[in-house]
Amino acid sequence: MIYLITGGAGFIGSNFLNHFVPKFPEHTFINIDNLTYAGNLKSLEKVENHQNYHFRQIDIANSEEIEQVFKEFQPDRVVHFAAESHVDRSITGPKKFIETNIIGTFNLLEMCRKYWSYFEDKLFHHVSTDEVFGTLGKDGFFTEKTPYSPNSPYSASKASSDHLVRAYYHTYDLPITITNCSNNYGPLQFPEKLIPLVIQNLLKGEIVPIYGKGENVRDWLYVIDHCEAIWTVIENGKRGETYNIGGNNERNNLEVVKSLCQVISNYTGEDVQKYLNLIIYVKDRPGHDYRYAIDPTKIQNELGWFPTETFDTGLHKTVKWYLENEQWLKSITKDEYQNWINKNYINR
Ligand code: NAD
Ligand code: TYD
Repeated sequence: MIYLITGGAGFIGSNFLNHFVPKFPEHTFINIDNLTYAGNLKSLEKVENHQNYHFRQIDIANSEEIEQVFKEFQPDRVVHFAAESHVDRSITGPKKFIETNIIGTFNLLEMCRKYWSYFEDKLFHHVSTDEVFGTLGKDGFFTEKTPYSPNSPYSASKASSDHLVRAYYHTYDLPITITNCSNNYGPLQFPEKLIPLVIQNLLKGEIVPIYGKGENVRDWLYVIDHCEAIWTVIENGKRGETYNIGGNNERNNLEVVKSLCQVISNYTGEDVQKYLNLIIYVKDRPGHDYRYAIDPTKIQNELGWFPTETFDTGLHKTVKWYLENEQWLKSITKDEYQNWINKNYINR
């Protein structure tokens, strides 16, 4: 089977490839990624020399470039990770989100429609987010039947792409599956997102900015659990269906940051108070969704997927990985990163 992986140099895509390329030598994996600030080939050093792995630097918003890849490799399955993925960046600059997340997804769907003359064994798997459902109050969970109600340019662009994918199933019989998952964390995540940003700042002795009062709740999912869930859906998911993926790990942001202070203190032997003193409260994110929480009953009951990590075990693994991979962190934060930090945090 030939798998076309989009966005394979990003956080989840690189974990997916590092996990599955060695595991399935009988499959070929083509990674297409245009290497934005969030994409890094250093994240793929483990698999870059594998015979069943290929990389092409391609922008999914460019249909001609994608067509070349379809002609060259004739993929059977597309696993679509590529996206602009950061809510704060979608607030300061939404245009790229429309181009990549909506036009890019449309281009890929069109290419599948053009090149897949028969649909047996073909699949377009779309990786999406629970943020398309909007925000929850103190109670309740997102199910596959929750109406879409996106609040940020990021989630609105992901919602649009989800609708396009579903429409290609209903209109053209294109075999598709969609997964909507909660916040991921783990190795190789770019330190613009909460958990790696906090780990990095605590280790460098820099302030840790919490938006608002730190009461917003996210439902944390360890990235390898997410990758296994995606593989389960690709293999056994019903075509045309959506599956929610979550780890049943709700925490508010302040709890997450305090846990990280404790875990890091355990590793370094420094007093936890030294880390807690770095926490500051900054102006809230505009339109900040209060709470996300996934009901994963469908994927658990129908496909038998369950997460293997608790938040505690996942957080330990993540901190350990960042401690052991200081060079990776340094290499990806040397260029555009400081501009982003200044832009996002200086005026809060
Ligand atoms: P990421 O930002 O770390 O990586 C995105 C990757 O896509 C990068 O390698 C980037 O270079 C590539 N890319 C961006 N624009 C591109 C373009 N025009 N053409 C080709 N490649 C392009 O994102 P991530 O956290 O790995 O997320 C992967 C997917 O999972 C996204 O679709 C995201 O919406 C979804 N998701 C992420 C989370 C999360 O917590 N990280 C949660 C739910 C859903
Ligand atoms: P983030 O990692 O950006 O993911 P998302 O916005 O997709 O949920 O943020 C997770 C939570 O952490 C969110 O409620 C915003 C908050 N947050 C902070 O409080 N400080 C920060 O510096 C960042 C990046 C996020």
